[in-house]
Amino acid sequence: MTVLEELDGWQRELRAQFPIIADRPELAYLDSAATSQKPQAVLDAVQRYLTTTNANAGRGTYTWANATTALVERTRTRVARFLGDPAPQQRSGVHFVSGATEGLRAVARDWLPRHLRDGDEIIAPFADHQANALPWLESQQLLAERGVRVTVRELPYDPASHDYDHTALARLVTERTAFVAATHVHHVYGGDMNVHRIRAAVGPAVPICLDAAQSVGHLPVDVGTLDVDFVVFSGHKAMALPGTGAVWARNLRGPEFRPGGWSGTPNTSGIASLEAALDWLDTAGPDRIQRWIVALAARLTDGLRASPAYEVLGCQLSLAADSAVQHREGIVTFRHRRIGSNDLGFVLSSHGLMVRADEHCQGRAGETESSVRVSLHVYNTPEEIDRLLAVLAAL
Ligand SMILES: Cc1ncc(COP(=O)(O)O)c(C=O)c1O
Repeated sequence: MTVLEELDGWQRELRAQFPIIADRPELAYLDSAATSQKPQAVLDAVQRYLTTTNANAGRGTYTWANATTALVERTRTRVARFLGDPAPQQRSGVHFVSGATEGLRAVARDWLPRHLRDGDEIIAPFADHQANALPWLESQQLLAERGVRVTVRELPYDPASHDYDHTALARLVTERTAFVAATHVHHVYGGDMNVHRIRAAVGPAVPICLDAAQSVGHLPVDVGTLDVDFVVFSGHKAMALPGTGAVWARNLRGPEFRPGGWSGTPNTSGIASLEAALDWLDTAGPDRIQRWIVALAARLTDGLRASPAYEVLGCQLSLAADSAVQHREGIVTFRHRRIGSNDLGFVLSSHGLMVRADEHCQGRAGETESSVRVSLHVYNTPEEIDRLLAVLAAL
């Protein structure tokens, strides 16, 4: 029995819980790496919050304000537990942000300058999403203005394996290496980066910040086994409302993460949605979600590779090759050898197929220019993949 057959009944039940998907079966949303759709349980939680206890957090003496404060604190613990933190809030902390971009910038702006000394070196992934490249350069500039010189080196990427080049990384590390930024799942190539090998290459003392925007909600992310110091993710890519995200900080290597001074009123309805989203994802099971979307990605990759008109970028993933299945997640980026990606995007859109075309916010655009990205989540189906493949085959 294939994974898609085994999980078919489970997936149908989950898909039916997304009104925007269930109400429009003629459409296929294939852009979940940009943002996910929201299940009814999340919509209900927001409605319930706004119609029962909506107030500001941390300021009140009355029940609604206290309920909102409790929601915010409970969701901090919920995020930590969801990430497998065995002792939430003993030392570790969770801070709410509007998405991964703001989360990474908060680490770069509010923590990194307190941690770095003149002459230190940091390593950052310039082939990844620009949200995980630019903040570290901004931090370098900010420090330079204060007379603190920091060298930023590129986290080496291996285009053959579509993982980081751990041997080259180990060679880059010196006694002045004070911080490494890395990505968990690449937002264009779909590679699931081997975080254990990053830790092994940089040694036990260097703080690692993991951009988990494309992994949280798509696969199990467990800080009990991943020895990283920050996990930054977008709630809105993990079934919660737009404008949500979080930074989890271990607070063991370097100073405590205390972002942003006076941050004002938190996004309380967003936080209510995040709590419900994490409950929903836990019930659905991140491991099963991962198996489903990887199987869909493999079906798509196999279909594309059967046609000489298409070139699949990033690591290959085949239903036939179990080892590769471990490495690539539910993101498939490809190119037609003659038709530009914007034209391809328009054609697909006219068939109700919503994909990401053209530019992918990469720190260094390079080889992925003019490509189309399909990114999957648990509500996507094999029939949608087959529809997409049929349209592509006809071009
Ligand atoms: C790997 C990665 N990091 C960061 C971001 C930025 O996330 P947000 O849109 O929540 O700011 C994205 C968004 O696509 C991403 O894919």
